[in-house]
Amino acid sequence: MKTALITGGTRGIGRAVADCLAQSGYDLTLIYFADNEAEQIRAEIAQKFGVKVTAIEADISNEKSIDLIYNYLIENNLKLNAVVLNAGLTLRDSFEETKMSDWQKVFFANVHFPVFLLQKIVNQIVAGGSVVFTGSLMGIEPHAMSLVYGVTKSATHALVKNLVKFLAPYNIRVNGVAPGFVDTEWQKNKPAEIRKNIENKIALQRFCLPEEIAQVYKMLIENGYFNGEIIVVDGGYSYK
Ligand SMILES: NC(=O)c1ccc[n+]([C@@H]2O[C@H](COP(=O)([O-])OP(=O)(O)OC[C@H]3O[C@@H](n4cnc5c(N)ncnc54)[C@H](OP(=O)(O)O)[C@@H]3O)[C@@H](O)[C@H]2O)c1
Repeated sequence: MKTALITGGTRGIGRAVADCLAQSGYDLTLIYFADNEAEQIRAEIAQKFGVKVTAIEADISNEKSIDLIYNYLIENNLKLNAVVLNAGLTLRDSFEETKMSDWQKVFFANVHFPVFLLQKIVNQIVAGGSVVFTGSLMGIEPHAMSLVYGVTKSATHALVKNLVKFLAPYNIRVNGVAPGFVDTEWQKNKPAEIRKNIENKIALQRFCLPEEIAQVYKMLIENGYFNGEIIVVDGGYSYK
C-alpha cells in the first residue's frame, strides 16, 4: 500500500492531488486548517476510491503543527511514500502597509514550516520516496500583487533545488510544481474583469483545471528520475 501526506489536501489543488493519488490506491493523510467540509471530503474520497483517508487540522503558520503531524505519524506507525507540501499563504496589503508580523507569518507558512516539517518527518519517508512542493509562476515572474508571496515562492523553488543534496542520503527525491493560474477558490474570488485579463495573457486562453495539474504531481511522485525540477504549468503564459 502506498501512502501520501498532502498539506492543503481538502481543497483546490491539494484536493485534486488527493483524488488523483487515491484513484491510484494511495492511503492519504490530508492536512487542512479552516475547511469546515474537511471531514465530509475525507469520507467522500475514502468511499469513492476505497482507500484509507485521515484529515488532520493543523495550521501551517503555527510551529506546534510540526509536532502535531509528526506525532500522528509516529503514533500510527505511518511511513510515507509521498509528501506534497502544497498549502500556502499570501498577503495582499500594499508594500507601504505591510506589517513585519504579517510578512513573517507568510514566510513561516510558505518556507520555514515545510523545511522544519521535513526535518522532523524525514525518517518517516521511505527510501525511494518523493517530496513535491507547490511553487508558483509568481516565484519566477515578478508581479505587483504581493511582494512576500513572490519572494516566498522564489524561495520555494530554491528550496527544491537545494534540498536535493540534503535528501539524497535518504534516497528521497524532491521536485516542485509552479502553477500559473489554476481555477480554485484562490482564483475564483477575483473579479470577472481581472479573470478575463489573465485569460487573455494565456496562450490557451483559459485557467488550468485542478485535475489537470494534479496529474503533474502524480508524475513527479511516481517517475523515479525527476529530481530537483520545477515544472511550470501555465498554459503558455506570456506567449500571447
Ligand atoms: N490557484 C492558483 O492559480 C495557484 C497558482 C500558483 C500557486 N498556487 C499555490 O497552490 C497552493 C494551493 O492553492 P489553491 O489554488 O489550491 O488554493 P485554495 O483552493 O484556496 O486552497 C488553499 C489551501 O491551503 C490551505 N491553507 C491555507 N491556510 C492554511 C493554514 N494556515 N494552515 C493550513 N492550511 C492552510 C487551505 O486549507 P483550509 O481551507 O483548510 O484552511 C487550502 O487547502 C498554494 O500554495 C498557492 O500558493 C495556486
